[in-house]
Amino acid sequence: MRYMGLLQTYKEYLPVTDNTPMLTLHEGNTPLVRAEKLSDELNLDIYFKYEGLNPTGSFKDRGMVMAVAKAMEEGSRTIMCASTGNTSAAAAAYAARGNLNCIVLIPNNNIALGKLAQAIIYGAKVIAIEGNFDRALEIVREITAKHPITLVNSVNPYRLEGQKTAAFEVCDQLGQAPDYLAIPVGNAGNISAYWKGFKEYNAKGKSSSLPVMIGFEAEGAMAIVKGEPILNPETVATAIRIGNPASWDLAVNAAKESGGQINYVTDDEILHAYRTIASKEGIFAEPASAASIAGVMKLHKEGYFKGGEKVVCVLTGHGLKDPNIAIKSVGGDLLVVQDTEEAVMDAIRKLEGA
Ligand code: F0G
Repeated sequence: MRYMGLLQTYKEYLPVTDNTPMLTLHEGNTPLVRAEKLSDELNLDIYFKYEGLNPTGSFKDRGMVMAVAKAMEEGSRTIMCASTGNTSAAAAAYAARGNLNCIVLIPNNNIALGKLAQAIIYGAKVIAIEGNFDRALEIVREITAKHPITLVNSVNPYRLEGQKTAAFEVCDQLGQAPDYLAIPVGNAGNISAYWKGFKEYNAKGKSSSLPVMIGFEAEGAMAIVKGEPILNPETVATAIRIGNPASWDLAVNAAKESGGQINYVTDDEILHAYRTIASKEGIFAEPASAASIAGVMKLHKEGYFKGGEKVVCVLTGHGLKDPNIAIKSVGGDLLVVQDTEEAVMDAIRKLEGA
């Protein structure tokens, strides 16, 4: 049967009524790809939930299709969000699809190029503020409380409802929940949504077990790890450059209830994992996504795993979102040579020797 998107596929599990428009860009149904080399190297059974293959290139499409469909059902004309980039791309796309206006607030100079391009081309009104994501979210909350505009950040409960479907897919793809679910943590909505999804699927008898949830913040933005908000968060992984996560308590609860933890990884660890999964596994995910695999590498080094466990790493966004980081992190200028066979052969030898 033709796949018709999340609202259709999971309507019994979602707040879908007879009046909910069946909005879709055929989001969800993303592959679970086994990490062949890393599994051998770390003596684990590692899988990537490749969320970069959603319609706008990130997991945000799952929550946004639900939130925008409900906004339409409720007669809203305009949606608004703060974003480090992916939420705004998803909001802009689904607003275009559903004929709504979309306003997005982004931190100036701190969103990846691809994400900015998406918000603009989908036709959102894009406003960059001289402040960070946390400040942008405060402003969006203030404005949407006073005006007839629907807030579509993950504090909108429909967002987490949509996002929990990724946990359902992981269980169906593996036949049951994995032993561990490793995930980057920014505003802390996604880890909360996955945990909700795993618990609901387990309660319905669709998976016999629950995973241990292990979430990873970036070191320069590790508010939950430190136990206090961070005023000026900094990390190469701009998607999770967040100092005061909105779903803080839910994320702590997911870690606690599942016997897991919220930990952190450094920018160097993130970039190492980012390059490794691209060059060894053929999977290109954005830096924030690589926090999940960087975290598994770190815990492995510390002797956290017994060996042989099934670990699913959520790769939240596509690598093409942030082409500048890819080029910068590998380094070196492009080799330009004359258009002759000898020049190209010389260049090949030079690169092989490098
Ligand atoms: N990975 C990517 C690629 C993201 O874009 C985000 C969040 C996260 C991980 C963290 O997920 O916030 O649910 O803990 N991006 C948001 C945005 C903040 O505006 O696009 P979270």
